[in-house]
Amino acid sequence: MKKIGIYVHIPFCKKKCKYCDFTSFENKLNKSEDYINSLLNEIENCDKTGFTVNTIYFGGGTPSVISENLIVKVLEKIKSKFKVEENSEITIEVNPGTVSKEKLETYKISGFNRISMGLQSSDPNILKYIGRIHTYEEFCDCYKKAREVGFKNINVDLMIGLPNQNLDNVIDSVNKVIFLQPEHISVYSLILEENTMLEREIKNGLYDIPTDEEERKMYDTTKKILEKNDYIQYEISNFSKKGFESRHNLNCWNQEEYLGFGLASHSYFNNIRFSNTDILEKYIENQKDNVKIEEIQTEEIRKKEYMMLGLRKLEGVSISSFERKFEINPLFYFRFEISKLVDEELIEVDLDNIRLTRKGLDLANLVFEEFV
Ligand SMILES: C[S@@+](CC[C@H](N)C(=O)[O-])C[C@H]1O[C@@H](n2cnc3c(N)ncnc32)[C@H](O)[C@@H]1O
Ligand code: SF4
Repeated sequence: MKKIGIYVHIPFCKKKCKYCDFTSFENKLNKSEDYINSLLNEIENCDKTGFTVNTIYFGGGTPSVISENLIVKVLEKIKSKFKVEENSEITIEVNPGTVSKEKLETYKISGFNRISMGLQSSDPNILKYIGRIHTYEEFCDCYKKAREVGFKNINVDLMIGLPNQNLDNVIDSVNKVIFLQPEHISVYSLILEENTMLEREIKNGLYDIPTDEEERKMYDTTKKILEKNDYIQYEISNFSKKGFESRHNLNCWNQEEYLGFGLASHSYFNNIRFSNTDILEKYIENQKDNVKIEEIQTEEIRKKEYMMLGLRKLEGVSISSFERKFEINPLFYFRFEISKLVDEELIEVDLDNIRLTRKGLDLANLVFEEFV
C-alpha cells in the first residue's frame, strides 16, 4: 500500500511578520474554533483511500497560537480517519512568543515528535525590524522547555539577507543556534515578497538589505560553519544531524503524494495537484466548492517535476530511481538539457546521481528553468 504525507494548515499568527506572505492572519484568532470545526469536517469527509500515512506536518501560520486542545482534536481526527504508521514523523511549527511548557507537554503527549521553531536571527535589532514577536532569550527559553518535555527532534529556522544584517550577525546567529544542538537547521534566503510591509519599507529606503554577493557570502559561510559542526546539508536550505533529515520535506522532493487540509493547503494525489480556497470565511462556511484542480499531470510533466524537485536535494536525482518510476533513463530522456547544464558546470553526473555542482547550488533557478 502506498504511503503518503499529511499537511495541516493553521492560518493564524499573533502578529504578521513584515516579510511574510504565507496565508495567515493576525487579527482573526476569534475564528479559530470555527476554523477547526471546518478542518475536522474536511478530514472526516475526505474520500481518498488506499494509503497509509507516514508523516504529518502542522504548519502555518502559527499552529501554536491557538489552543492546544484544538490542535490535539485535529491530530486525533487524523489518527481515527486514516491508518497512521507507528513511527510516523509528526511535526508542529511553533513561534517562540506563543508557547508555554504546558502547551509543549500537551503536544508531546498527544503524539507530536518533532518541533519546528522560527528564530530567524539572534540579533535584537533585526528581530525588531522584521516584526518578530519574541527576543532571542525567549526563543532559548522555548527551546529549553521543548527539551524538558522530551522533544528529541527540533528544527530551528534562520534567515539570511535580512534588513541591516551583515556577515557577523549571521555568524553569531548560526553559532548561537549550534550551541543549542538542534537536530535540524533550516536557513532561508529572504524572498522579498510583493505587497509585504518589508517590501514597502525597503522601497521607501527605510532599510538596506544585503547585496546578492553579500548574501552569497552569508550562505557559503553558514554552510561551512554548519558542516564543520556535523550538520549535513541535504537540500539547498536544509541541514541536519545524520538521520534527522525532515521526512516531510523529503517526501515532497521525492514527488511522493500528500494530502493538505485547511485553508490554502495543497495536495498531490493520483497525479493531480489541487488546492483549497485561501478565503477564510469561505473555508469556514462551506467546503463543497472550495477545491481547485491546479494540474492534472501528464507523464512528461511528472518527469520534469521529478527532476526539478530531486535536484533540490544535495544527493540529487537517483538515475536508477528515475528508471524504476518512469521506465526510461533520465540521461537519455533529458539528454539535451543535461548536456547543456553539464557544459555550463551547473550539474554533474556520477554512477547513479545527477546533482547540482557548487556553482549550480548558487544558480539553482537557472537549472530548474530547464525542466519547467
Ligand atoms: C510558517 S513559518 C514558521 C513558524 C512560525 N510561524 C514562525 O514564524 O515562527 C515558516 C518559516 O518560513 C520562513 N519564511 C517565511 N517567509 C519568508 C520569506 N519571505 N523569505 C524567506 N523565508 C521565509 C521563516 O524562516 C519561517 O520561520
Ligand atoms: S513568519 Fe511565521 S509568525 Fe511570522 S507571519 Fe509568517 S507564519 Fe506568522
